[in-house]
Amino acid sequence: MRSLILFLFLSIPVQIMSQESVNGKYEEYILTPAPPQSPRINSPSLYGLRPGSPLIYRVPCTGERPIEFEAEDIPEGVLLNKETGIMTGIIEKPGSYTMILKAKNSFGHFSREFTLDVGDKLALTPPMGWNSWYIHYDRISDKTMREAADQMIATGMADYGYQYVNIDDCWMMKLKSEDVDINGKRRDKQGVIIPNKRFPDMKGMADYIHAKGLKAGLYISPGPSTCAGYEGSYKHEAQDAATFADWGYDFLKYDWCSYRKVAGKKSDPDYFIRPYLLMWDELQKQDRDIVLNLCQYGMGNVWEWGGEVGNCWRTTGDLGLEERKNLPGFYSIGLSNARHAKYAIPGGWNDPDYILIGWVGNAHGMAEGTPTDLTPNEQYSYMSMWSLMAAPLIFSGDMAKLDKFTLNVLCNHEVIEVNQDPLGKQAMLLEKTDHQFVMVKPMIDGSISVGIFNLNDEVKKITITWDDLEISGNKHIRDLWRQKDLGTFSDRFITEIQPHGVTLIRLFNE
Ligand code: GLA
Repeated sequence: MRSLILFLFLSIPVQIMSQESVNGKYEEYILTPAPPQSPRINSPSLYGLRPGSPLIYRVPCTGERPIEFEAEDIPEGVLLNKETGIMTGIIEKPGSYTMILKAKNSFGHFSREFTLDVGDKLALTPPMGWNSWYIHYDRISDKTMREAADQMIATGMADYGYQYVNIDDCWMMKLKSEDVDINGKRRDKQGVIIPNKRFPDMKGMADYIHAKGLKAGLYISPGPSTCAGYEGSYKHEAQDAATFADWGYDFLKYDWCSYRKVAGKKSDPDYFIRPYLLMWDELQKQDRDIVLNLCQYGMGNVWEWGGEVGNCWRTTGDLGLEERKNLPGFYSIGLSNARHAKYAIPGGWNDPDYILIGWVGNAHGMAEGTPTDLTPNEQYSYMSMWSLMAAPLIFSGDMAKLDKFTLNVLCNHEVIEVNQDPLGKQAMLLEKTDHQFVMVKPMIDGSISVGIFNLNDEVKKITITWDDLEISGNKHIRDLWRQKDLGTFSDRFITEIQPHGVTLIRLFNE
């Protein structure tokens, strides 16, 4: 009987999704169920900060507002705003502080444990947020950054854990330019960096972002100039770290770029690590927490040492410049990043670059945004790979043009939970052929998250066995994109997957 049920179940395609519509455009089928009206507090379940550093944390919670927030066993020195769910304060003593967060509205209530881990580690789960590069390039301004923060709240992204609002390149003065906005004194008499005229108030901008419970990030290079030719930190590292802390920034992307010009000899064993170690040490001296994102495209096997001098490190060249061969560039970048799985740990993540969906501008020529040419299936695959790989989830498309479909890809709390799992393991790549691959991520509760990816241009039926996964016994399986239980399976799982699509499941012990 049981095998009959299993047979009947498996003969129904697990992925029921039609791709092409009559007018030749791909149908944007939405898999993520709408959140309930009652409150639901989303991941992460823990957050790292240093003793004495100011805390700003907006509890990510979906449901109809107004929601009333409350915390049981909240540590001394921390306050939770009842109406906004924004936690602020300072904890002086190192330790692990677990509280019960509660949220209620007229539809119901929700509670879950949340831990503030006060020690020397930041980014205990992969950073989530938005970065300006792939949509605004050198057009970025204070106004656009503030609007991005507004949109992070208004679109609901913040309710799923997105919290960093990061300017990329082009906020400083440019070394050579005719444009009066960006051509000026690059530093004052004391050497303090001067932002360009599109950023009249860097501190005010960070305050604005913080007032929403979000965090602010910026970018610079250890070399004399950035990749786009703006002022770099070379010989001003200590001063810049202090300035960024004084302005109130929480995240720094530090991009190698022109550093090669001043770096000395490549045979020197410290060649690659030196500029990052220098900035890392300076950041440790500040009285606020600044997550350090290394951007040097994977040189010198950065994954082997990145965790000593940073919180995440780009493992490849720019995703937006990656050539599309048979498949879109995120596959080659993602699969290259997958090779370094064993180096990912809480506080130190492999970074395969941003999520480029929605409206993005072609990086060749820093163009204005247009809708992504990725198919819906490819977008689900992209987000599934990044989640399984515990990659920073940083969206870099247009915040002002977020549509329902893009938000459904970015904001599925069960998919994000895979990414934000506190065990902090990156998925292992199990089986890779020209036609398919499988990624497997162990989770803190003993379950495993599995992504099965179809690289074919046709629909394909793929079987994974427990032997492939090195597991045994009955498993209760959940489809994460649909947030649906699929039943109990004893030794294999068969799924029909659309071209370039994915089946993302989680296997729980019975
Ligand atoms: C490099 C980085 C990109 C972006 C640009 C800015 O190319 O890899 O992510 O920051 O510089 O100039």
